[in-house]
Amino acid sequence: MESGILLLAFISTLVIVHQFHIIQAQEGISIDCGTTGSYVDSNNVTWVGDNGFVTTGESINITDVVNKPINTLRYFPTGQTNCYTNIPATKGRNTLVRTKFYYKNYDENYSPPSFDVVYDGKHRDSIAITADSLFSDEESFQYSEVIFAPANENISVCLVRTSPSDNPFISSIEVYRFDAGMYDDLGPEEGLILYERITYGAKKLICYPLDPYGRLWSPSGSEDNTALTDLTTSAPSIDITGASNKPPEIVMSKALSGDGLIISGLPLPSTAVLVYLALYFSEPQSLGRTQKRSFNIFLDDMQVGSHPIVPVFGKATQLVLRDVEATSESQIVFKSTDDSVLPTIINGLELYSISNNQHGGSGGQSGGGGQSGGGGGQSGGGNNGKFLLDLCTVYDFYTYNFFFLPDHQSNKLNHKQNSPNFHKFLVNNQNV
Ligand SMILES: *[C@@H]1O[C@H](CO)[C@@H](O)[C@H](O)[C@H]1NC(C)=O
Ligand SMILES: *[C@@H]1O[C@H](CO)[C@@H](O)[C@H](O)[C@H]1NC(C)=O
Ligand SMILES: *[C@@H]1O[C@H](CO)[C@@H](O)[C@H](O)[C@H]1NC(C)=O
Repeated sequence: MESGILLLAFISTLVIVHQFHIIQAQEGISIDCGTTGSYVDSNNVTWVGDNGFVTTGESINITDVVNKPINTLRYFPTGQTNCYTNIPATKGRNTLVRTKFYYKNYDENYSPPSFDVVYDGKHRDSIAITADSLFSDEESFQYSEVIFAPANENISVCLVRTSPSDNPFISSIEVYRFDAGMYDDLGPEEGLILYERITYGAKKLICYPLDPYGRLWSPSGSEDNTALTDLTTSAPSIDITGASNKPPEIVMSKALSGDGLIISGLPLPSTAVLVYLALYFSEPQSLGRTQKRSFNIFLDDMQVGSHPIVPVFGKATQLVLRDVEATSESQIVFKSTDDSVLPTIINGLELYSISNNQHGGSGGQSGGGGQSGGGGGQSGGGNNGKFLLDLCTVYDFYTYNFFFLPDHQSNKLNHKQNSPNFHKFLVNNQNV
């Protein structure tokens, strides 16, 4: 299937009030670990069993869970490193690989494991299933994501033991091929390890097929903060061609607004890592001649982009800052320009650490006019700060009854302690 085929889909849910173009991409593969055979899920995604990709480990059925793919897993009781190999991919094309982990006390040891996952032999992420996962379904779901360009027509995913007593396990592997041009500021050997991906001003998670490239966008809205406002575009459609990473139109249709926004509470480690930060903007209102919205953004002291951001109505603007060091203490600071009469806004954000960094650490930028940094860089190690929940699977898990989640339910998920999906905001330097 060519990814350029546009299907007009009319979707009516609580989240979506416009018509959106759904691009049928899903060039890739979805592997349900610990099972055999294949099936098609409710999103028309074909899942295959894992027996063609791995020769070690043991399969487990989690009998009190019915939902695929998380009702089966494969665990590895022996060996330092166990690998899935020959997973088909497109050489040289940026690709998203996501692994999911649902512990559910399958071993009846009440001992959630920690281990590493290594993608294609070079991009390492750390998995730490928390003890809370024994008591909370939501916290049982964890996932890891990396974006990189495969060096061959097939890739590997290896699970690496980091503690003698902890057996690595895995519930699923998903591979989504991106279109040419997406994340094209990534070097051939580099990878992006996901820390968070946010849709602002929204209440619901965005997953495939609303994002045809399989990315998960966690909602972050104003909640009860009177200093913040959730905005929905009044444009009938948003042209995203100005944003080469192709954030979904539905993400660009929502924004969070506030005077002098400061985003803190980033889920990064306390020791510095080199990051890739992508910010997305679209002006939600058709502005009159006297209404100007214009602001600069800084990651700590580093300006993101070289010109003020003036979001455009019905269009998308993308700004990327990469090779800059950041920590859990870092802040993203929005400052209105003197001639701006409207508050600062943000529509979407992606934050990654850069694995196998090729450029070094002096702050390369692209999106408004590109340049790349120089110097000798280091890739990030363990992701201490990270705690990603796969709420798409959680919602699926509750058998779609919660598809129209009552607000208190989604608030509960959003406000979960330690969740990276809900930032702290400062407006005019006041906590909100
Ligand atoms: C799945 O595919 C079938 C047949 O092509 C189509 O009728 C159906 O609407 C699709 N469902 C979804 C959720 O896309
Ligand atoms: C898991 O369930 C499937 C289908 O019922 C069955 O064929 C398989 O043998 C089970 N596997 C294990 C390890 O119990
Ligand atoms: C995977 O890629 C390697 C390196 O190009 C190649 O040797 C191997 O045959 C490939 N495997 C398959 C199943 O295509």
